[in-house]
Order: sequence, then C-alpha cells, then structure tokens
Amino acid sequence: MPYKLLFVCLGNICRSPSAENIMNHLVEQAGLIDSASQTLGSSIICDSAGTSSYHIGSPPDRRMTQAAQLRGIKLRGEARQFQKSDFEEFDLILAMDKENYRNIVSLDPTGKYRDKVRLMCDFCTRHTLKEVPDPYYGGPEGFNQVIDLLLDACEGLLQYIIGDRIKELDTGE
Ligand code: 4NP
Repeated sequence: MPYKLLFVCLGNICRSPSAENIMNHLVEQAGLIDSASQTLGSSIICDSAGTSSYHIGSPPDRRMTQAAQLRGIKLRGEARQFQKSDFEEFDLILAMDKENYRNIVSLDPTGKYRDKVRLMCDFCTRHTLKEVPDPYYGGPEGFNQVIDLLLDACEGLLQYIIGDRIKELDTGE
C-alpha cells in the first residue's frame, strides 16, 4: 500500500503545493541515487490542499513558482479545498502553520484522526521555526524562506517515513 501524504496551507497556491512538489522531487532523487529506494519512490504519494476556498482551480502562485525554480523544482498542481474525506484517504496530513492545524482538526470533532495531523516544521532538523510563514503578502525573501524550510522539513519527513516503513516491515503490520 502506498504511503499517502497531504500537505495543507490556507490557499493551496504557495506553501502546500511547494511542499508537495519538493517531496516528490526528494523521493525521485532518492530513487536515482539508491536503487533500493526505487520502490519507495512509487510508494509515496503526495497531494496538497487549502483550508480555504479562495483559490480553487488556480495554479501555484507565480512568485512561489519562481522561488522553487531557483532550486530546480517545478511546481505543478491546481488548488483544491481540504475535505473531510481526506482524513480517511491520507496516512499523514501536514499543516503548514498552527492556524491551518486548528482548521483541519476542527473538522474532526471526535479526534478520530488526530494522530494523522502534524505540523510540517516538526520534521525540520536544521531550522527552529515552528511554522512555515505565510509568504502571500510579503516580498521575495519570504518565498525563498518557504523553500528553505520545506526542503529541511521534507528531508526529515522522508527519513521519518523510511523509519516508519521499516518498523511496519519488522512488526508485519
Ligand atoms: P498559501 O498562501 O496558504 O501558502 O497558499 C496564501 C495564499 C493566498 C492567500 C493567503 C495565503 N490569500 O489570502 O488569498
């Protein structure tokens, strides 16, 4: 069974599509440098969504696309809104900031899926910021910072998933 990741921000045009495409990029890279990870490549599926309906159907923000391009990452995707069925559909739901986190868990009042919802920055190993700052109303530096933070968090997340998968194999889950 593939491991399914959903990255969530407010608009689904800046932070979460970047996270989705960076993660796909890292998974592909892992496949290129380590043939044992080739299987991992096809067994991690990434998607992204926004808690708001503001930009449904829009492509990633042009400024975000430029910042990603500088790091050799192409942003693909079309914004959609987070929906309750995503709780069942995905193994892990990564919120970019605490407001996104609160909005996601508010759609799960019984807390059934609480363990699936995490803050993206929990997986950072080099940066100490606890949230991925919303770059939308700021200058170009904010967009570059988002890419830096997400590269760190996605690398940590990939290591976490590899560890989780090995545990599953060991315990036969
Ligand atoms: P994102 O950025 O949540 O990272 O996609 C934003 C995009 C749009 C808006 C705010 C943040 N907005 O207010 O329209």
